[in-house]
Amino acid sequence: MIDVQNIVKSFDDHLVIKDISATFDPGKTNLIIGRSGSGKTVFMKILIGLMRPDSGKILYNGRNLPNMKKKELNMLRREMGMLFQGSALFDSMTVMENVMFPLTMFTRDSRKERERRVNFCLERVNLKEAGASYPGEISGGMMKRVAIARAISLNPKYLFCDEPNSGLDPKTALLIDDLIHDITLEYNMTTVINTHDMNSVMNIGEKIIFINNGKKEWEGTKDEIMNSSNQELNDFVFASDLFKKVKEIENLAYEEG
Ligand SMILES: Nc1ncnc2c1ncn2[C@@H]1O[C@H](COP(=O)(O)OP(=O)(O)OP(=O)(O)O)[C@@H](O)[C@H]1O
Ligand SMILES: [Mg+2]
Repeated sequence: MIDVQNIVKSFDDHLVIKDISATFDPGKTNLIIGRSGSGKTVFMKILIGLMRPDSGKILYNGRNLPNMKKKELNMLRREMGMLFQGSALFDSMTVMENVMFPLTMFTRDSRKERERRVNFCLERVNLKEAGASYPGEISGGMMKRVAIARAISLNPKYLFCDEPNSGLDPKTALLIDDLIHDITLEYNMTTVINTHDMNSVMNIGEKIIFINNGKKEWEGTKDEIMNSSNQELNDFVFASDLFKKVKEIENLAYEEG
């Protein structure tokens, strides 16, 4: 579990994260939603220790990340998988080499052991046949799957995904969501996903945190989101065309019923 307490972050005079507290549970896809510029990426960077908060705690099983010594932080990093906007694959490496990279960096496993793990991960994301291809030769959806295979190569306890669906068509986006959700359950990972995609919210939003202008505005599940009375949340949710339609149909059914 990750327990975030009272995180504040500003850049010069610009207060970007305004006293956010939240918990993220294992075996769950925890979603952070909000408009562009609301602070999702900054918040995630603070969670993983890429940015330092002005104040607040980020407790990983009770250990506060900002207070960790280098060695402890490196150990924690090894337990984290990350999936960034745009797959961030190495173009000059094959798919196989990309997935092997963290294993080569962080383990002393033999070449054979590493290959076995890479094959397992590629198989898990249904990409076994693409091992010898280069990122430039495969589709955007396949690149995301390679990035997922790389993110889980070290068998992480925590998985962080910043807009994993950006640039994908809706159908491929759903497949990526399902894959992240399935591996989260399978390996009991604590997964945190930044998104503004309402399809993802309704598909895998087991725990949703809505950030509005740097503040935590609402928290709940996908089953609760449609019936929330929070005006800011409703404005965000029903700005998406899909949800206007859902509400229209609901109202229609209500009138007919
Ligand atoms: N390194 C930085 N220095 C100064 N300001 C920054 C920095 N990083 C982010 N910001 C500001 O913090 C605010 C939140 O940005 P952030 O990238 O977290 O938004 P976001 O919710 O991830 O948006 P998007 O959905 O577009 O990715 C923005 O106003 C941004 O300009
Ligand atoms: Mg962002």
